[in-house]
Amino acid sequence: MRFARILGTGGYLPARVLTNAELEQMVDTSDAWIRERTGIEKRHLAAEGETCCDLAEQAARRALAAADLDPSELDLILVATTTPEQFFPSTACLLQQRLDVHGCPAFDLQAVCAGFVYALDVADKYIRTGAARHALVVGAETISRLVDWSDRTTCVLFGDGAGAVVLGTSDTPGILSAHLHADGAYASLLQVPGGHGNGQPQRAFIEMRGNEVFRFAVTTLGRIVDETLEANGLTKDDIDWLVPHQANIRIIQATARKLDLPMERVIVTVAEHGNTSSASIPLALDQAIRDGRIQRGETLLMEAFGGGFAWGAVLARY
Ligand code: COA
Repeated sequence: MRFARILGTGGYLPARVLTNAELEQMVDTSDAWIRERTGIEKRHLAAEGETCCDLAEQAARRALAAADLDPSELDLILVATTTPEQFFPSTACLLQQRLDVHGCPAFDLQAVCAGFVYALDVADKYIRTGAARHALVVGAETISRLVDWSDRTTCVLFGDGAGAVVLGTSDTPGILSAHLHADGAYASLLQVPGGHGNGQPQRAFIEMRGNEVFRFAVTTLGRIVDETLEANGLTKDDIDWLVPHQANIRIIQATARKLDLPMERVIVTVAEHGNTSSASIPLALDQAIRDGRIQRGETLLMEAFGGGFAWGAVLARY
């Protein structure tokens, strides 16, 4: 049997920090409200001229260094992003050139906040089928550029960043299973309505019915925990770490409760960078691997929910 194993991880947050105190000066909000309702203390913003590919490159280089892999050994490059560098070429192709890699498939994947788990599943399938030996999977976002800075219900939530994972072929797991879902019936609850496809590029700002998204996310993520455990014949006790999408501490706590996991077993980075969309899981994963919390052989449940709605979980042995 062939499996995809995590060889190395990397993360990158832009230097500029936007604090809750600064947001108090911009909209009618308070540090106390933001912390209590979301768990967010600050977020990072890409500097003017700093791009999605810049963020992706930093995270990718750190993941390659951690994996001790030369970029020339990559045979698949995937970038999960909602905020690509430009319409085309894909951010993955631009990143491929920055890494001086030539010839292997490279493409972007757009599943908003679920983008990283979607991309991990695709890369896993390339590796399991023998179509790739080494894959670079990046989640990179300059999502702050889709934020309406006068809308207090959304502008406090989001930030920029990138995270990356290098996968390699192994005869032991590895990624154990992936469970992806989507339902476009809920598109209008969380969207950026603008686009060149509909001739309304000027409507490029996040619109969200936060309360409804919240409730749907909690229920759906609870269900996907059951689905993942059942598919693998596991119980809650078999999960060592929850590595969730970092949107709101209360959503994370609800999923942890579903798993009967104490919060010490949950990787939480939402306070430091808010919702970085597809970058949030690999950023959290990278932090917990680098600080030594996540150890080889431990079982991780990664899960995400976002616009689409699109959601999913990946179970992996590190
Ligand atoms: N500062 C202060 N008050 C705010 C505020 C802010 N930044 N944003 C909203 N409020 C107000 C609302 O206007 C509302 O006031 P009202 O009662 O006078 O109408 C009140 O706070 C409660 O709003 P509500 O939307 O019910 O709050 P909430 O507890 O649901 O928290 C979110 C709002 C957005 C934090 C929460 O709904 C959420 O996290 N939703 C999911 C978002 C998400 O994860 N999206 C991405 C998925 S990937």
